[in-house]
Amino acid sequence: MTTDLVEDEGQFYGKAKEYWKEVPPTVDGMLGGYGHISNTDIAGSRRFLQKFLEDGPEQIGTSCALDCGAGIGRITKRLLLPIFHTVDMVDVTEDFLAKAKTFLGKDGKRVGSYFCCGLQDFHPEPKRYDLIWIQWVIGHLTDDHLVAFLKRCKVGLRPNGIVVIKDNTTQEGVVMDEVDSSICRDVKVVRNIIKAAGLTLLLEEKQRNFPDEIYNVLSFAMR
Ligand SMILES: C[S@@+](CC[C@H](N)C(=O)[O-])C[C@H]1O[C@@H](n2cnc3c(N)ncnc32)[C@H](O)[C@@H]1O
Repeated sequence: MTTDLVEDEGQFYGKAKEYWKEVPPTVDGMLGGYGHISNTDIAGSRRFLQKFLEDGPEQIGTSCALDCGAGIGRITKRLLLPIFHTVDMVDVTEDFLAKAKTFLGKDGKRVGSYFCCGLQDFHPEPKRYDLIWIQWVIGHLTDDHLVAFLKRCKVGLRPNGIVVIKDNTTQEGVVMDEVDSSICRDVKVVRNIIKAAGLTLLLEEKQRNFPDEIYNVLSFAMR
């Protein structure tokens, strides 16, 4: 549990904020030097999401999505704006959101709001979102903050809406990265957090065709 690893919450969040301030606002910067896996990542996410766009009881609407820890909008641009009418973005790093305004091109006009805020403090508007996408950012939240944030996400969903977490997972246990001040959890811990937030897991899938040397990346859909 993160309570064992995070001794000083202020420092944990402060260090991460300082780390991201120094990262270039590019796709490569968003992916820690792994910009070349972005196409594979987006294609995998599209396939995962497709299951919730087809006719059927799990089908979600396509009015509005929220990109959490959105950075410069790598996911907003290639995954979300092509599907959803409006996309909101939230990130703690102001420079990334500023960059998004040019990076997204003309479709950026359909971004509803750019929220500069830590997810630990962010309250999604109730019943606004068909999809809340949370990728490569949960490691920056403590367990308690992540549970609380997911509870608020649940409130932010439209009828039949879903939350998706896509993130690194360890084989077993929780590992701290002192460089960017984040933690990496194992699948069981993530599942427990989802349950503690009162959400039901609908689908869980491993991203295929990523380099062997990186963590397993899993997608979890829930409502
Ligand atoms: C690894 S990047 C991923 C960016 C984006 N999700 C993507 O996949 O391209 C992590 C992002 O999380 C943001 N971030 C870090 N801590 C955060 C926090 N507490 N709340 C919101 N965003 C945070 C960083 O500014 C950065 O944009």
